[in-house]
Amino acid sequence: MPEAVSTASHLMNNYGVRTVEMVRGEGVYLFDSNGKQYLDYVAGIAVCSLGHAHPAITKTISDQAATLIHCSNYYEIPQQKSLSSKLAALSGLDKAFFCNSGTEANEAAIKLARKYAASKGEEQRVEIVSLPNAFHGRTLGSLSITPKAAYQAGYQPLLPGAHTPGNLTDVPSAITEKTAACFVEIIQGEGGVRPVDEAMLRAIDARCKEVGALLVVDEVQTGVGRTGDFYAYSAIGITPDIVTMAKGLGAGVPIGAVLAREEVAAAWTPGSHGSTFGGNPLATSVANTVVDIVSAPSFLEHVRDTGRYLEEALRQIGTEVTGRGLMWGFTVDNAKEYVANALQKGVLLSAVGESRVRLVPSLILEKKHVDELVERLSR
Ligand SMILES: Cc1ncc(COP(=O)(O)O)c(C=O)c1O
Repeated sequence: MPEAVSTASHLMNNYGVRTVEMVRGEGVYLFDSNGKQYLDYVAGIAVCSLGHAHPAITKTISDQAATLIHCSNYYEIPQQKSLSSKLAALSGLDKAFFCNSGTEANEAAIKLARKYAASKGEEQRVEIVSLPNAFHGRTLGSLSITPKAAYQAGYQPLLPGAHTPGNLTDVPSAITEKTAACFVEIIQGEGGVRPVDEAMLRAIDARCKEVGALLVVDEVQTGVGRTGDFYAYSAIGITPDIVTMAKGLGAGVPIGAVLAREEVAAAWTPGSHGSTFGGNPLATSVANTVVDIVSAPSFLEHVRDTGRYLEEALRQIGTEVTGRGLMWGFTVDNAKEYVANALQKGVLLSAVGESRVRLVPSLILEKKHVDELVERLSR
């Protein structure tokens, strides 16, 4: 590229000013263009489930790139078949659809829920209910069930029928015969790493079943071993009709998934929905590798064990420490400032909201990296 052409000035400003340029990763470390090393507790926002440059992922990508990256969904893709059967076995759901991101997975789930209602002749059942403090993505449908004024501002009118009660306790009564689906997260990641009250989740599940609405569990951030279970909902005792996934599933290669009960999935017939890139051989071969590694009981035990150690350490650092597995948040006075200071000390953290600091490191994190976190932050 000619010297005079500035890349930065041609990027849109939606991410604001970024001060650090990342060029390389290795395990739980990232390196910037000045060669500075960072301990990575962001992991691409809960995406790099196996850290950076994991040999099994590198090998899968390079083998698959040398074989077939993409061919379109006109043709059968064997990696989709194996991935869907693995995810079905892990979730207890029956069918999968693959897309490229979390918001696309939720968008597809909104469409599937409405289509299912329509297929049963329930034309009035169009409402989508979500929880206060939820985050489901940035495309218009997912944004409509993400009740954050700053994200929604200027994009009205949003999806008709999207509805978020102001209080969590009002959610069950907001679910009615007009509700196609209620979306829940088990731990609200963008909402500050706040676990949703488990009794309330069970009440919402029961209410959905009572009125014939679908329960959609958004496992985009909590799924793929993040909480120490392959799916966070499995520890709660609820039975989703649909589960959405993305982030950690591709370990950095974009992929999203929607899983559904057979009867719900049957509402989609050829042409009902689609994606050019969704589930291509590259993405699904990587996801197969990720799922094989992460679903191993010993791997999940490692996440739980390291997570407990991290939790203990965080209790010495901050207040209101909440989370599970390797997904934690704590409270500080000024989260942005705290994260900026940590960056100087060689630790990558993210701020969610004004006062919450989030840690979603890669799942290969070890206890020595927790000790290193404490040591670096105390510098
Ligand atoms: C729970 C949840 N759902 C959906 C999304 C959107 O995912 P994506 O950014 O891949 O569209 C996110 C992203 O942070 C998320 O945390």
